[in-house]
Amino acid sequence: MNACLHPEVAKRLADCGQSHLVDHLAHLDPIAGSLFAAELAGLDPVMLSELFQGKSLAQPLSLKQLEPPPIASAQEDPAARAVGLQVLRDGLVAVVLVAGGQGSRLGSDLPKGCFRVGPVTGATLYQIHAEKVLELGRRFGRTPPFLIMTSRATDSATRAFFASHDYFGLKETDVLFFTQAEMPALDRATGRVLLEGPGRIFSAPDGHGGCLAALSRQGWLDKLSALGIQHLFYFQVDNPLVRIADPVFLGRHILAGSQASSKVIARRHAGEKLGVFASVAGSCHIVEYSDLPKEMDEATDRSGGILFNAGNPAIHCFSVEFLKRAASGNDLMPYHAALKKVSHWTPQHGIQVPARENALKFEKFMFDILPHANPWLLVWTSREDEFAPLKNADGADSPAAVRVAQSRLAVRWIQAAGVSVPTDGAGNAQVPIEIAPSAGLEPADLDPSMLRAIDWSRPVLLKS
Ligand code: UTP
Repeated sequence: MNACLHPEVAKRLADCGQSHLVDHLAHLDPIAGSLFAAELAGLDPVMLSELFQGKSLAQPLSLKQLEPPPIASAQEDPAARAVGLQVLRDGLVAVVLVAGGQGSRLGSDLPKGCFRVGPVTGATLYQIHAEKVLELGRRFGRTPPFLIMTSRATDSATRAFFASHDYFGLKETDVLFFTQAEMPALDRATGRVLLEGPGRIFSAPDGHGGCLAALSRQGWLDKLSALGIQHLFYFQVDNPLVRIADPVFLGRHILAGSQASSKVIARRHAGEKLGVFASVAGSCHIVEYSDLPKEMDEATDRSGGILFNAGNPAIHCFSVEFLKRAASGNDLMPYHAALKKVSHWTPQHGIQVPARENALKFEKFMFDILPHANPWLLVWTSREDEFAPLKNADGADSPAAVRVAQSRLAVRWIQAAGVSVPTDGAGNAQVPIEIAPSAGLEPADLDPSMLRAIDWSRPVLLKS
């Protein structure tokens, strides 16, 4: 028995079918051994064993219970705008960006936020988001605290990126990094924890839902409350169109007394890779596309349209009090299991590259907090205005598609300002156009007199 490992830990591991980890520890040198023993002591083998048996996993909802949820219209709402502007002026809002994903489909070595997507400037996703926060601070005299969730995979590169770009004009103290937890991957056949290498468990970030536990455990929810922050605007790193801390959305959330509010976009077609909103006995749920039963996915209304047509662009506003209560409750968010191909290491055979899915990975989803909110609110928005996620290296949701979406959005804003801009007739600009956050956070910010003077035959960057 290795002296570094408490006998009770060793017994618990063995009882839960993880004795290969204890055996492996015996073959490590003292330094590697003590590090590995510390990792083993941090494991919860009982929970892993339950997850492997499917016990603590998210359960499918009964189709009979599901209904299309009520959704407020996208119309401009002056009363809500006034309330939203006031809470921004009063400094009652923080923003949280989840950026801990591994971006495996995109296949870049750097965190996704470092990817250049600006159609004219090549601005990175981090720059675009940070400049929006900066602009909020300039307008309202208070910069919302900008919390960024990283993971083991993205943390050091993200921090270094922000530091090397002088925090994109923000004060270093306004950018608050916190790191989500990891979950071990299990062999799909045996439930054994996989190894990444000698003395190293194979683990992956615990999903964007890990945000709640990380915010709570690291004291951020209490710190936000102490700063007087009442509302948290939540968004994902991959979407450059997001209207961060949209005042009308914030105002609606507040006027409705909502604990959790979400923007909604219309699904394009059944089978689209987008989470779907539904209500169940008065509570709000999102069913992830990978968990969507075919009957729900393909259900149609009387006119033949998609019955469950409310798609999730992952833009939410949470009351901080609600999050604090949810975080103190008995682990309200279940894990979701996914079968993945995971290259791993064994003492007998070294690195193993599987030919097919060999491992179970476990993630929490932030939207699993929604059923615990009461009241809650959903608000329509249009995909063109607010959602163009960077997911893939090619094709749909690729860097090229995301650049086009930004230029298309610029065209819509410029046309809304009453200025004509040459297009191909289908809404695509004839040259790349980029609107820097300093020039506008929404269409009404654009100055028509400035737009009329522009030569639209060359790429255009609008900035103040
Ligand atoms: P995705 O589920 O699209 O994952 O994340 P991803 O990492 O960007 O890409 P793939 O699936 O590996 O190709 C949606 C959002 O949730 C964040 C991501 O950074 C992105 O903003 N996320 C995802 C986390 O912060 N942590 C996670 O564990 C998973």
